[in-house]
Amino acid sequence: MTRLLDVQDLRVEFRTRDGIAEAVGGVSYGVDAGRTLAVLGESGSGKSVTAQAIMGILDSPPGRVTGGRVLFRGRDLLTMSARERRRIRGAAMAMIFQDALSALNPVLPVGAQLAEMYQVHRGMSGKDARRRAVELMDRVRIPAAGQRAGDYPHQFSGGMRQRIMIAMAMALEPDLIIADEPTTALDVTVQAQVMDLLAELRREYAMGLVLITHDLGVVADVADTIAVMYAGRIVETAPVRDLYRRPAHPYTRGLLDSVPRVDGPGARRNDRGEPAGRGESAGRGDRARRNRRGHRGGRLYAIKGAPPSPLALPSGCPFHPRCPRAQEICRGERPPLYEVTAAAASPASGGRTSACHFWKDELDGLDV
Ligand SMILES: Nc1ncnc2c1ncn2[C@@H]1O[C@H](COP(=O)(O)OP(=O)(O)O)[C@@H](O)[C@H]1O
Ligand code: SF4
Ligand SMILES: [Mg+2]
Repeated sequence: MTRLLDVQDLRVEFRTRDGIAEAVGGVSYGVDAGRTLAVLGESGSGKSVTAQAIMGILDSPPGRVTGGRVLFRGRDLLTMSARERRRIRGAAMAMIFQDALSALNPVLPVGAQLAEMYQVHRGMSGKDARRRAVELMDRVRIPAAGQRAGDYPHQFSGGMRQRIMIAMAMALEPDLIIADEPTTALDVTVQAQVMDLLAELRREYAMGLVLITHDLGVVADVADTIAVMYAGRIVETAPVRDLYRRPAHPYTRGLLDSVPRVDGPGARRNDRGEPAGRGESAGRGDRARRNRRGHRGGRLYAIKGAPPSPLALPSGCPFHPRCPRAQEICRGERPPLYEVTAAAASPASGGRTSACHFWKDELDGLDV
């Protein structure tokens, strides 16, 4: 079966005053129709630049795609004419950004912005387009959609604005949505609502969803697979359950160990005062084990140090200066993306990879 999106060995550079920054150094990931891929990684790991290169909206110059393929239903977007690509981008793929306020037009009522999509792309009359716009606002659960269609973006709360941006992205019923940190600017309760809405729409329309986030807690319930990025590369891919239970890369393990306890101080709560459900799909037992591992002397374990600059990537494994498992070989030899075999991973695993020389030891070291 042809994958909906199949990114192969994508490379992006930025020319800067200080030299060439290798922001994306050979990323491969994909998603099928009706599935969700979460792309996880700290700030600066190349998540957004990868998405921009896929969508064809890279800031260029200074950015430049220097290699790889972006197959959409088997056709390479990178070698298409600009016109054809624009057509696909408008109708078949859409993007949701973190900051709705700057992504929406500030001087046009939101209903008119939505209606414009139908007029321009579907040739609808103004009246029909306005009616569809209100239906869509209703679908993303904007209360009193009919009245609010005349309001401007700044008149909505952050969560409601994000719903409007989701509506904009959904308007033409795309096959693929890339959501880049869609809930990062929102408070926790609203985050969960917006994420639930996205997941629901993804199911209803059988879309492929690439969900970019730096927050592991956000993705557990909605993602099917996770790709973890570090320093412009994928360091681990796995079905979501496997990744939570048995991470096969020390960086992933560090990220998991940095997630706050469900029941401890600072734990996330929903509006009923219960612990927020995000991140619990791997089961409470897993979560409890992980938390024990995560707590060193009552303090939350976080990965030491900071991610490297793409202008000066460390030799060998780019994670080695921060890795608690690093050995001599890690400084000299860059690990390839190893296939994590079913024998060594959990029985249900499929399509697992890890860019760690010692992924086997990493799995063996887990007390599961
Ligand atoms: N316009 C730009 N000019 C130069 N460097 C850039 C530009 N945009 C992004 N980068 C660099 O590319 C790297 C990856 O950035 P980005 O994809 O935005 O990270 P993430 O989304 O994972 O936080 C960063 O080191 C960033 O500094
Ligand atoms: S290759 Fe070495 S430095 Fe890199 S993640 Fe594995 S153990 Fe750590
Ligand atoms: Mg980003």
